[in-house]
Amino acid sequence: MEGKRARESLVVKSALIGPPDANNVGTIFGGKVMSYIDDVAALSARRHCRMIVVTASTDSVDFLRPLKVGQAIHLEAFVSWTSNTSMEVFVKIMGEDLWTGERFVGATAFLTFVALDSAGKPHPVPPVIPESEQEKKLFDTAPERSRLRKERRQRSRNFAEKFARVTPWGEFKV
Ligand SMILES: CC(C)(COP(=O)(O)OP(=O)(O)OC[C@H]1O[C@@H](n2cnc3c(N)ncnc32)[C@H](O)[C@@H]1OP(=O)(O)O)[C@@H](O)C(=O)NCCC(=O)NCCS
Repeated sequence: MEGKRARESLVVKSALIGPPDANNVGTIFGGKVMSYIDDVAALSARRHCRMIVVTASTDSVDFLRPLKVGQAIHLEAFVSWTSNTSMEVFVKIMGEDLWTGERFVGATAFLTFVALDSAGKPHPVPPVIPESEQEKKLFDTAPERSRLRKERRQRSRNFAEKFARVTPWGEFKV
C-alpha cells in the first residue's frame, strides 16, 4: 500500500472557552477536552485511511496546565505511526491567552484507532511517511509505545476476566 505523509492527516481545531465549558473554578472540564481530543484524532485517522475507524485505546492524558474561561483552546492531531490495521494519532492541546498571545501546552495525548472494512473487521491501513523532525521523532519512538499498549491490553483483559463480572449481587456470565 502506498504511504501517506503525516501532514496529510493534520487536523486543527480551535475554540473559545466559555462559562458552560468550565467548572466552578473557571477551568475547562477534563471531559470536554477529552471529547475534543477524540474528535480531532478520529478525523485525523479517517483522513489517513479514508475508512471507518474506531477508537481502540487512549493512552493516559496528563493535564499539565489549566485552560481558563476566556482563553482559546487549540488542538492539533496527526497520524504519527501505523502498524497493520491500527494507527497511532498524536494530539497536542494548547491554550492561548487572548490578551497577551502567550501560548502554552496544556496536554498531549496518543490515541490508537483501528480501520474497519464494510464487515466491521480490522483492515490494513497505508503506512505513514514522517517528514518533519517532530514527526520523525514520534515515528521512531512509536514501536516501544505500541509494545507497552499490547502489554496493557493483555492486563486489561486479565482484569476484566477476573473482576469485571463480579457485582454486589454475584457473578454474571459474559
Ligand atoms: C479495536 C477492535 C476493533 C480490535 O479488533 P480485534 O478483532 O480485537 O482485532 P485485533 O486484536 O487483531 O486488533 C486489531 C489491531 O488493533 C490493535 N489494537 C487492538 N486493541 C488495542 C488497544 N487496546 N490498544 C492499541 N491497539 C489495539 C491491535 O494491536 C491490532 O493492530 P495491528 O493490526 O496494527 O497490528 C475491537 O476490539 C473493538 O471493536 N473494540 C471496541 C472499539 C470501540 O467500540 N471503540 C469506541 C469506544 S467504546
